Amino acid sequence: MTGNNKTSWMKIVIVCIFAGMLGIGYKWYSKRTMVVQPIQFNHLKHNKLSCEICHPGILKKAKAGLPSISLCANCHATSPDLSETGKKWWIYFLNKDPEIVPWQPLYSVPKHAYFSHRRHLSIASKEKLLSCPVCHGDIHKTERIPQKRLVNFSMEKCRRCHRYWKVSTDCTACHR
Ligand code: HEC
Ligand code: HEC
Ligand code: HEC
Ligand code: HEC
Ligand code: HEC
Repeated sequence: MTGNNKTSWMKIVIVCIFAGMLGIGYKWYSKRTMVVQPIQFNHLKHNKLSCEICHPGILKKAKAGLPSISLCANCHATSPDLSETGKKWWIYFLNKDPEIVPWQPLYSVPKHAYFSHRRHLSIASKEKLLSCPVCHGDIHKTERIPQKRLVNFSMEKCRRCHRYWKVSTDCTACHR
């Protein structure tokens, strides 16, 4: 009798420990996948500008690129209307080194994979050219940078479109 009771207690304890570990793991995971920006950027307020002003690589390079504070300062001689912490960061970056790019990237591929904006947005033949929302959703219409990707990408997604356009799906096309 007592033996049986002991084993069922042990089972409950083990289940509790396991559930606790899952909880901590999940918290860690969701924090890791959430991107927090020091300065909130409002794409909607800048929707009259071409993407290329702030993402200069899109047509010419693999990386789209992100703007430095000095680029913003071309139009914002004084700090724009930001939150208190945003303003503090703005002044800090401007004084420390205006060429610093303070944003945390939301999209990135791991080092072993290769992606090129130029290839997809400027040198592909006309019918295959893509637009930004295909991979990034309507991020350019948001008032703050989302903490999570609006459109997720995965290897399967890249390959699905490649299959459709009969572009190479060899491992070495993307893993170099
Ligand atoms: C005045 C500057 C500016 C303009 C113009 C601009 N952006 Fe941005 N963009 C930013 C800043 C700043 C970020 C923040 C960086 C971050 O959080 O990654 C950003 C982030 C992004 C990101 C997320 C990149 C990442 O991995 O973090 C995408 C996608 C993007 N912009 C698309 C666009 C598109 C599409 C357009 C044109 C329709 C555009 N942007 C125009 C400044 C600009
Ligand atoms: C080419 C000029 C230009 C560049 C470069 C530029 N902005 Fe702006 N920004 C503007 C204009 C124009 C407005 C006003 C838009 C409006 O009020 O509708 C604005 C508005 C803002 C606002 C909102 C201010 C308010 O009064 O609501 C913020 C915040 C801001 N910009 C931050 C940035 C940041 C951060 C960067 C660099 C990534 C940047 N801007 C780059 C022209 C620019
Ligand atoms: C076929 C999908 C696809 C399209 C279309 C696309 N992107 Fe990207 N974008 C990506 C991927 C994948 C990454 C991560 C790249 C990396 O880590 O090198 C990325 C990263 C970015 C970044 C972060 C840049 C950096 O230097 O870290 C910005 C900004 C961006 N894209 C803007 C744009 C803009 C603006 C357009 C349209 C002109 C666009 N993208 C079109 C897939 C795409
Ligand atoms: C919506 C369609 C689409 C998506 C999504 C897409 N691609 Fe592509 N990709 C193409 C097309 C079309 C070409 C051929 C462009 C040309 O004609 O030069 C291409 C070409 C390439 C090439 C050059 C291939 C070669 O044979 O040299 C690489 C590398 C590549 N893509 C990587 C990626 C990666 C990595 C992703 C995912 C992050 C991705 N692509 C997502 C449509 C797509
Ligand atoms: C069209 C581009 C493309 C092709 C072709 C491709 N991969 Fe990938 N692969 C990627 C991208 C992009 C990632 C990163 C995905 C992410 O960050 O979620 C990736 C991730 C991976 C990973 C890491 C694990 C994972 O799932 O994230 C492995 C392993 C891998 N690829 C193996 C292969 C093998 C083996 C082949 C050939 C059968 C192949 N890949 C073909 C684009 C490609």
